[in-house]
Amino acid sequence: MSISRFSFPTAIHFGPGARTLVGAHLREQALTRPLLVTDRALAALPLLAEFIAHLGPGLDVAVFSGVSGNPTAAQAMAGAQAFAAHRADCVIGLGGGAALDVAKVVGLLATRGGHALEYAWDHLNARPIDGELPYFVAVPTTAGTGSEVGRSSVLSEDDTHVKRVIFSPRLLARAVFADPELTVGLPPRITAATGMDALTHNVESYLSPAYHPLCDGIALEGTRLAARALAIAVREPSNLAARGDMLMASMMGAIAFQKDLGAVHSCAHALSAVCDLHHGLANALMIEPVMRFNLEAVPEKFAELAHAVGAGSAEAFVPWLAQLKRAIGLDDGLAAAGVRREQIAALVALAERDVCHRTNPRPCTAADFERFFLQAM
Ligand SMILES: NC(=O)c1ccc[n+]([C@@H]2O[C@H](COP(=O)([O-])OP(=O)(O)OC[C@H]3O[C@@H](n4cnc5c(N)ncnc54)[C@H](O)[C@@H]3O)[C@@H](O)[C@H]2O)c1
Ligand SMILES: [Zn+2]
Repeated sequence: MSISRFSFPTAIHFGPGARTLVGAHLREQALTRPLLVTDRALAALPLLAEFIAHLGPGLDVAVFSGVSGNPTAAQAMAGAQAFAAHRADCVIGLGGGAALDVAKVVGLLATRGGHALEYAWDHLNARPIDGELPYFVAVPTTAGTGSEVGRSSVLSEDDTHVKRVIFSPRLLARAVFADPELTVGLPPRITAATGMDALTHNVESYLSPAYHPLCDGIALEGTRLAARALAIAVREPSNLAARGDMLMASMMGAIAFQKDLGAVHSCAHALSAVCDLHHGLANALMIEPVMRFNLEAVPEKFAELAHAVGAGSAEAFVPWLAQLKRAIGLDDGLAAAGVRREQIAALVALAERDVCHRTNPRPCTAADFERFFLQAM
């Protein structure tokens, strides 16, 4: 028997101004002591103070802003301590994927104890993630990871920087407030890199062989939105229509990757671990060689992708990617991002070990990964 399971459970409040609804939402749930989890750089921006001012009366808010870079397990542990110290009754995650991934597990760690990575899905004796967790709402400020609608938290090991995944449907935000106005202050390079993450999620999940026609439809439409909006969002930061399309494409990508991802993400995870590259930038730099390799395995799917982005044929999809990367200023390659040739062996070893490429439409060997990294240099 082969039974598929489909689930699209997150309540999403989407649109300019959605951020102003969070306070009333918490009051409706009789919650009064939120811990707001955000990253160090965002905490210094007026955006945070403005967000807190909109929360309104009756809430005693504490801020934990100890998130930075590719977030580590220790950052999540410190967030859990802040939750306990504040005697918080709920968590607001405000930020990009980094802040949201930490926010997602703070309630779990504060109420169940143990070390963060004891909950990682591949831990030999993984702690269970069961029962009701503290209420968690997610407010994204980047349009890329879609972590706000995802079931996983990606944390790096503090010593090795290897990314580990804590996965459970119980980690899903209870409500998402997706406000394109929060993304207008994103610098062009971060808009470009995070946007390429969203595009890659849609493309790789569409190409994953898993049976999920609902997600396939979402992934194709997410691809279409990102193709239409990304270069505009980079060029015209205040264009709310383009920002909204990207925020939606980002959530669609993360919903679609219930079907899992592919080899671009295996390469990106290795690049973050070995070279501390930003996740979206890493995807942007790796997507072309991997897609060139994938084309012959599923040309009919490339024809659908090409149609979605307005490129003429299956063969035109990769050149379209190259042109998009030029338009958004991410066409400079791995070497320009600081990756050195002598790191390629370590990158290949980690990429090969990563699980994402198990759902790549064409199996990848170590030699294939080596070629991808060399081509991307
Ligand atoms: N949980 C998932 O399903 C999932 C999926 C993909 C990636 N990830 C993880 O997400 C992380 C990457 O997230 P990201 O790409 O959103 O980057 P990020 O969260 O690291 O943010 C990038 C930078 O943008 C800044 N920033 C964020 N919002 C801003 C705003 N509105 N204005 C100005 N600056 C702003 C941040 O301070 C930070 O310096 C990685 O750790 C990656 O592993 C998680
Ligand atoms: Zn990603």
